[in-house]
Amino acid sequence: MKIPIFLLVLIPLSQVILAFADSAYPSPYGIETTTSCSPSASSDDLIPIRREVYGNGRIFDITHRMTPDMPSWELEDGLGQFLWLPKSMKNGSLANNSEMKLPTHTGTHIDAPGHVYDHYFDAGFDVDTLDLQVLNGPALLVDVPRDKNLTADVMQSLHIPKGVKRVLFRTLNTDRRLMWKKAFDTSYVGFMKDGAQWLVDNTDIKLVGIDYLSVAAFDDLLPSHHVFLKSREIILVEGLKLDDVEAGLYTVHCLPLRLLGAEGSPIRCILIK
Ligand SMILES: *[C@@H]1O[C@H](CO)[C@@H](O)[C@H](O)[C@H]1NC(C)=O
Ligand SMILES: *[C@@H]1O[C@H](CO)[C@@H](O)[C@H](O)[C@H]1NC(C)=O
Ligand SMILES: *[C@@H]1O[C@H](CO)[C@@H](O)[C@H](O)[C@H]1NC(C)=O
Repeated sequence: MKIPIFLLVLIPLSQVILAFADSAYPSPYGIETTTSCSPSASSDDLIPIRREVYGNGRIFDITHRMTPDMPSWELEDGLGQFLWLPKSMKNGSLANNSEMKLPTHTGTHIDAPGHVYDHYFDAGFDVDTLDLQVLNGPALLVDVPRDKNLTADVMQSLHIPKGVKRVLFRTLNTDRRLMWKKAFDTSYVGFMKDGAQWLVDNTDIKLVGIDYLSVAAFDDLLPSHHVFLKSREIILVEGLKLDDVEAGLYTVHCLPLRLLGAEGSPIRCILIK
């Protein structure tokens, strides 16, 4: 039997791509994820390609995929169903039209000042008022010590240079894969009040990113949020997916939805090397 020549070419190529994907960026999703792949390789068998990394390893998606099993604030059973299909082609509609319903602080998301200050909320400091210049630009991804919450001492020990405006803090939360666990976990690492105050007083950081659902440790939940959001200059990005990205300097791009009146919004964030 004669094997068509295109198969001989395709098989080794796809093996090479998969091998590269596995070793460079171990995937939380299993083999469905590849780092770079030509869409045509699988367009024939109608299998969508889901990626974490684009552009030959240059563009990292640091947003968590929304799923019913992702953790949700103080819930034991995760987010649950958030998508419905009220109009479906299978039921005779012209097109499929989904609807979604979710807490605005779901998954990778952003906090606006109105989140913890009621007078800011009433005055309209919603996610639509957040500064896109803060949300886009050079950013440092740093690893913090794994044995502590983010206290003033820890912050000082990081030696983040003056002038750095955007920092994504990778913590024990990433190692523990907390964002991949359905049950909400109060023992996540976050900022203690004195750590937040140290950052405000001693650095130029205006974008604070973290790898679980809150930048504030559970024990200092409101105090840390208050310290960060008081000036309305600092933007908090929470629930980032910082797995499998090297620490260092990137350009970050984060774009929240323009939800008028909302103190939180899901956000898409990427890092570009
Ligand atoms: C339309 O919705 C159905 C579910 O009723 C789904 O199985 C199908 O894949 C959808 N079709 C398209 C074109 O998205
Ligand atoms: C299609 O309609 C039936 C009957 O109304 C309903 O039970 C079913 O859930 C619908 N399916 C979808 C995909 O909307
Ligand atoms: C961080 O604080 C939480 C309580 O907010 C606690 O459960 C956890 O053990 C602390 N983590 C570390 C590494 O000290």
